[in-house]
Amino acid sequence: MTSPVRTELHDDVLVVISDNPPVNALGAAVRQGLKDGIKEGLANDGVKAIVIRCDGRTFHAGADITEFGKPPMGPSLPDVLDEMERAPKPTIAAIHGTALGGGLEVALACNYRIAVPSAKLGVPEVKLGLLPGAGGTQRLPRVVGVEQALEMTVFGNPISAKAAEASGLVDRLVEDDLAGAAIAFAREVAAKGDHPVSSARTDKLPDAAAIDGIFEAFTQKNGRKMRGFDAPAANMRCVRAAAEMPYEQGVKVEREEFMKLMTGDQSKAQRHLFFAERQAAKIDDVPKDTPLIDIKKVGIIGAGTMGGGIAMNFLSAGIPVTTLEMSDDALERGRGVVGRNYAGNVKGGRMTEAQAKGAMDIWTGTTDYADLADCDLIIEAVFESMDVKKDVFGKLDSHVKQGAILASNTSYLNIDEIAAATSRPDAVVGMHFFSPANIMKLLEVVRGAKTSDAVLATVMALSKKIGKVAVVAGVCDGFIGNRMLKPRQVEANKLIMEGAKPWDIDRVFVEFGFPMGPFQMSDLAGLDIGWHRDESRIETLRDELCAAGRWGQKTGKGFYDYDDSRRGSPSDEVEALIAKWAEKESRPQRHVPDEEIRERCLYTMVNEGALILEEGMAQRASDIDVVWIYGYGWPRYTGGPMMWADLTGLDVIVAGLEKHAAEMPEWPLSQMLKDKAAKGETFN
Ligand code: 3HC
Ligand code: NAI
Repeated sequence: MTSPVRTELHDDVLVVISDNPPVNALGAAVRQGLKDGIKEGLANDGVKAIVIRCDGRTFHAGADITEFGKPPMGPSLPDVLDEMERAPKPTIAAIHGTALGGGLEVALACNYRIAVPSAKLGVPEVKLGLLPGAGGTQRLPRVVGVEQALEMTVFGNPISAKAAEASGLVDRLVEDDLAGAAIAFAREVAAKGDHPVSSARTDKLPDAAAIDGIFEAFTQKNGRKMRGFDAPAANMRCVRAAAEMPYEQGVKVEREEFMKLMTGDQSKAQRHLFFAERQAAKIDDVPKDTPLIDIKKVGIIGAGTMGGGIAMNFLSAGIPVTTLEMSDDALERGRGVVGRNYAGNVKGGRMTEAQAKGAMDIWTGTTDYADLADCDLIIEAVFESMDVKKDVFGKLDSHVKQGAILASNTSYLNIDEIAAATSRPDAVVGMHFFSPANIMKLLEVVRGAKTSDAVLATVMALSKKIGKVAVVAGVCDGFIGNRMLKPRQVEANKLIMEGAKPWDIDRVFVEFGFPMGPFQMSDLAGLDIGWHRDESRIETLRDELCAAGRWGQKTGKGFYDYDDSRRGSPSDEVEALIAKWAEKESRPQRHVPDEEIRERCLYTMVNEGALILEEGMAQRASDIDVVWIYGYGWPRYTGGPMMWADLTGLDVIVAGLEKHAAEMPEWPLSQMLKDKAAKGETFN
């Protein structure tokens, strides 16, 4: 097999070039090639310096993640990098694209780093539940200082080449001809006697007396964001070791921590999500070369909660939007909300004033369907009523040009029935955004019975352009996400009638890793959503809560009582009302253990997920995981509901469901789940 690494001799400079598409991951063959390249450079007396660079779209974007969890293949990256760093001739990394993870570690093992201004540098291992395990946690703080190393390792976000130059991570920026500039730079430094060695540096490390303060301040500021995850704290411990120990000892700490993470469930789950997210974009039975529809102008029907947020996605990506509403007043209201959202983005430093203005400038409003005639994609976001939606789609059919995509943002309704209101059901698709639509990353793409391949492929490609993670769902009540929400909600509501307190249920969810539990969620969304608004008609606990003005956070009370800063505390009134309804419905009260809350609220979701798979409503289990991670705040470190079930053991899930079968006749066991559990199989 030919090596993905070749060398070029340019008089006194040896250039070691990797070419391992798509991202020059550091698989075994690349590691061997780098090792051999260095050896060749050292063996040739005529060589005065060695340049490391990559062909293709990027510098090394990290270790090869597909090798993780398999038996190690030599040489190891830490060993190759140690050899590289020990080389008595100067080494220079020439960076374009992304130098990430092991890739940045390669660069750190070199004496010098030069980069093009568009390059990005980072250590995203934490996002895979890991840490930079090839000396990165020890070399990085020595090169950029402890504070920046903490930011980079704990959050994993890459920095720009310019920022890297400012912090000393990059020695020089070069505008163009990186390959030529690297050779010239190599000659320049070869003339010097001393070369910086990352692992030997101490100039950026803090005084011993300052270390506690730095770490305390960092934890104080960021502790909440790390809740539940193992890897951020492990990264912190390693960076601390770099600050406190000699390099040789620090790398031992790093190795130990790395191995612990690598063999743990969290990293397994997060690595699963890395591939799951990429896999979700692929539709198995739609040919890769399906021609895409060019989307130059988007129409949106409705400027309410969803319509406004959906518009922002396209406006921010530079795609003009025309919004249709029922009245000028409604348009004005919608425009006001979006304008304020953009102003908030500017204030928060997320965009410039010019960008916000540019977005608002390409937005027009109308009340006339004729103005949508030339749109390439129209997304309907009107009230959740089949009659209203059919009326809208009928009008779209008679006004909008042929070839355009007609999409609905419905949360539950049947896309095929909506499509039947048009003469072109092949053009109709569901585009289910999540609230707030300008922020939430998930997009459920609902494939109708007649939706064409071109429409599907276009929507999937477009979603990437507007920063969404798209997952294909079939036509069923609530699609993937909301369908699975149902058993959880029903069981939570039943459990409070059996004696569990809403705050106990919420606590179990928060301890599991959700940002909030189902009742906190209801209070945030508003208990009055979908309420009949007749205070004299009290047929359920919710009717009673609403009639008592307990609409949730917006009225200062819902399931919880809220103070002025919207902090909720358990409510005696709610407890008394629940007791009253439980008595009315003859439900005896008992102590409900946390385990039962988990089993009835979470295991039923896994069961529903299995039914979704059984019915072909999702392409694969990992798609369901992606929906719940990006749409509903399921904790990433569990890998999503189906991966979590795999790691828990499907036999455990089935046993938990069977234990409560008598109380849960609504949720018949999925045959697929039962079979897999019996055979010891997993979903992923
Ligand atoms: N290993 C193996 N495959 C990888 C990979 C990696 N490190 N990075 C990307 N790929 C694959 C993807 O799975 C995808 O495959 P597919 O086409 O079959 O779906 C293909 O490369 C292209 O990737 P993207 O679709 O993500 O391409 P983008 O252009 O959108 O993004 C990127 C490029 C920014 C480099 C992005 O792929 C990325 O963030 N990669 C992961 C970077 C990372 O996490 N590096 C750290 C790895 S862990 C490590 O280095 C440990 C060390 O410390 C010891
Ligand atoms: P909303 O009530 O905030 O907005 C609906 C808007 O549509 C209103 O401004 C209304 O004036 C306008 N409208 C109604 N009928 C119209 C018509 N015939 N022509 C033109 N405009 C019309 O509702 P929201 O929350 O934005 O929901 C819209 C859709 O999005 C619904 O189908 C809903 O199920 C779905 N959805 C809602 C989510 C949410 O969290 N609010 C999440 C995901 C989907």
